Amino acid sequence: MAVRLTLNGRPYTSRHNNSIHHDRHGPLPARAQPAGPPAAGPVRGGPVPLPGARDVEAPEGGDRRRRVAAALAELDHLVGLGHVKALIYELHAFAEIQQRRREANLAAEPLVMHMTFRGNPGTGKTTVARILARILKEMGVLSRGHLVEVERADLVGEYIGHTAQKTRSQIQKALGGVLFIDEAYSLARGGEKDFGREAIDTLVRALEQHRENLVCILAGYRAEMEWFLLQNPGLRSRFPIHLDFPDYTHDELLAIAEVMLARRQYRLTADARARLAAYLRDLPERGRRDAGNARTVRNLIERALRRQAVRLVQGPYQPGREELMAITAADVEAALRDEGPPAQPPLYN
Ligand SMILES: Nc1ncnc2c1ncn2[C@@H]1O[C@H](COP(=O)(O)OP(=O)(O)OP(=O)(O)O)[C@@H](O)[C@H]1O
Ligand SMILES: [Mg+2]
Repeated sequence: MAVRLTLNGRPYTSRHNNSIHHDRHGPLPARAQPAGPPAAGPVRGGPVPLPGARDVEAPEGGDRRRRVAAALAELDHLVGLGHVKALIYELHAFAEIQQRRREANLAAEPLVMHMTFRGNPGTGKTTVARILARILKEMGVLSRGHLVEVERADLVGEYIGHTAQKTRSQIQKALGGVLFIDEAYSLARGGEKDFGREAIDTLVRALEQHRENLVCILAGYRAEMEWFLLQNPGLRSRFPIHLDFPDYTHDELLAIAEVMLARRQYRLTADARARLAAYLRDLPERGRRDAGNARTVRNLIERALRRQAVRLVQGPYQPGREELMAITAADVEAALRDEGPPAQPPLYN
């Protein structure tokens, strides 16, 4: 089966975007950029043994490609994030081509896929990491394709030796998948004596040791991430890929709300849509740390579903199929009333 890559519903053509940065250690040398549409054309032949997949049996080629295509389709269904999708398609194409080069006895570049995801809360970082882990698994680059999400408290211990042990145990859990470290810069905040440093050193060693079967993603605010990588050159050189997750526009947030509802087999009435659009327009400007994000929308939608349920249960007659699906302006209004005061933006010094 041919794997046709689509980007926002259209065949994907690789093109560079300024918000994707590869430094000179990057895994995508110019000669290996996927050529345009579709990036990975029809694939001939049987099962392909894939890089780094020594401990997994190569599944039937057709099945594997179908599963890769399904994971890529899941990525494509995310609203917006064009440059994130483009980079992941490139990684996919690159892994595929390196494998075919290996089969043709040509030199193959190692796949170094450690990366940073930089953006505000609720901009899709964890969601994309989870899908990426699945794609890499289906491609045989990772053997398990799971995501282990950790933060400082999961890595840093309370006494000498404790930190290395805690960090190693999280790395062990993540082998074969993605180790996703939220707010990684908090590991470097405490100064020279802080145990966070020990966690970073342990991590740097592990990235080298397990580079065939572990992808590490550092996630968090952009400025802090840049600061963090400047603190530790060992770390910087091991993270060749940097991806920005911009705040969603108001239109994207509305589209995300509709996707979330459709997935649950609900839909907005025209009035409800207008009410939600008006609310989203009033959210803080993009680029602020308290700007609207997809999680705010999800919470709002979930409250609206509960409000609809109460309205229908209390109604005078049995709701029909259409009513069971419809979220009205009154439901949205009630969900907005429930929201309470806007959350305070986190404090940073
Ligand atoms: N582009 C998108 N399309 C559809 N749903 C999205 C999109 N981005 C995020 N979401 C949804 O929004 C919610 C929050 O996303 P996610 O947890 O990935 O954000 P995050 O960047 O990891 O946030 P944080 O930094 O707070 O951990 C999830 O329910 C996710 O499914
Ligand atoms: Mg997250």
